[in-house]
Amino acid sequence: MKRPSKEVIDVVAAACARADAESRAPRLLFVCLGNICRSPAAQGVAEDLASERGINIECDSAGFYGGHTGDLPDPRMRQAAFARGLRLEHRSRVIREYDLDDFDIVFGMDDRNIADLHRLAATPEQDAKIVRMIDFCKDYPNEHSVPDPYYGGASGFDYVLDLLEDGISILLDEIQKQTI
Ligand code: 4NP
Repeated sequence: MKRPSKEVIDVVAAACARADAESRAPRLLFVCLGNICRSPAAQGVAEDLASERGINIECDSAGFYGGHTGDLPDPRMRQAAFARGLRLEHRSRVIREYDLDDFDIVFGMDDRNIADLHRLAATPEQDAKIVRMIDFCKDYPNEHSVPDPYYGGASGFDYVLDLLEDGISILLDEIQKQTI
């Protein structure tokens, strides 16, 4: 079992402090490539677990590739999520630079997303909001990213949901600690 590093806990603490100073909920943005598999699933898991636990957060998701703009999540991800009681209804959209102002924490799923996010950030304040989703996972110490399931089989979608449920539950623990 792995614990999140001080660096990522500090990002969560800064996010909660900023939200608190503005008397609003922390705003979380989940980012992948197509915004039809991993990041809308992360958004759905976060919204579901937060409402189950009575934690007030605002969530959205976005991607770097615009080819699926306006689409619902991939049917394979919708099906895998629905089997766990989650209905994914986000419509794919491309990330914009000002998302790094509007949101308090921005989660990338893999190395490519993280590199693209750091390239997009125009200020140190924007850059400091970028974290890796996998850094919150406790049960997958050897996993380096939330892997892209798009070109694989059905099990890849379930695996993504397993990773996300693990990481997001730790993320919510940290948010809850900051807001008590
Ligand atoms: P995602 O998966 O980044 O988890 O949404 C992908 C979806 C579509 C494509 C690539 C990855 N694509 O190339 O169309």
